[in-house]
Amino acid sequence: MTTTATRPSAHPRAAIPARTLRTDRWWLTPLLSMVFLTVAGGYLTVRIFIPDHYFVEQYNYLTPVFSPCISDSCADGARHLGTWLPAFPTLLPLPLLVFPILLGFRATCYYYRKAYYRGAFLSPPGCAVGEPAKKYSGETRFPFIVQNYHRYFFYVASLLLLLNTYDAALAFLPASGGFGFGVGSLVLVANVALLWGYTLSCHACRHVAGGRLRHFSRHPIRYRAWTFVSRLNAKHMQFAWASLASVALTDFYILALSAGWISDFRFFN
Ligand code: FES
Repeated sequence: MTTTATRPSAHPRAAIPARTLRTDRWWLTPLLSMVFLTVAGGYLTVRIFIPDHYFVEQYNYLTPVFSPCISDSCADGARHLGTWLPAFPTLLPLPLLVFPILLGFRATCYYYRKAYYRGAFLSPPGCAVGEPAKKYSGETRFPFIVQNYHRYFFYVASLLLLLNTYDAALAFLPASGGFGFGVGSLVLVANVALLWGYTLSCHACRHVAGGRLRHFSRHPIRYRAWTFVSRLNAKHMQFAWASLASVALTDFYILALSAGWISDFRFFN
């Protein structure tokens, strides 16, 4: 049997005057996505320029937005990994090195791409809805060619997540000594758990676990890892939203504690 490769352009969109024949509220999801991204992204962007209230020394709580804090400008106790860099000029944000990596990881994420291509670029706004752009060049040119580097952002962001995990563990060692924990410790642990869910459910992680294999039968451990990651991968959208919200809320909780607006409920010590 002979098959003929058919270019998509050989089947242009049906010539109907309406943009779409869909009658459901297809616009609601892209709209909500953009509202959420604007609020959370706006908050975090403003936050990195506020060099205060990112650390609660009494309980050893460091916000994930400023972690790792490794410059001489950071509060003494917040430098969990020591001092690697000199003090930053006042206008430079403390998470100068970390924030671009985390932003790149999220911005090149396959799920977020779908969300903002639909919500911001209307490309397309939804399934079976006509898009305004006449041409499509894919992700072959700058800046969108950067999308192809997602896996590298995944590698580096995974290392940073190990540091966030370390910070969350330190939140059980208050400055008064010994072991103790409060609501803030649990908030940091929940945040790290959601971040692990998001990172491990990444498509690049799935490829690391089970990609480039001819026979799963000869690689039982990688098959198990791939099966586990694949299950998480089915929930990647949920992890994407929940982890973004949790980073912003965790930061706000620590900001509110540090500013003295609220106090931390302590379960022990
Ligand atoms: S695909 Fe979303 S983080 Fe990798």
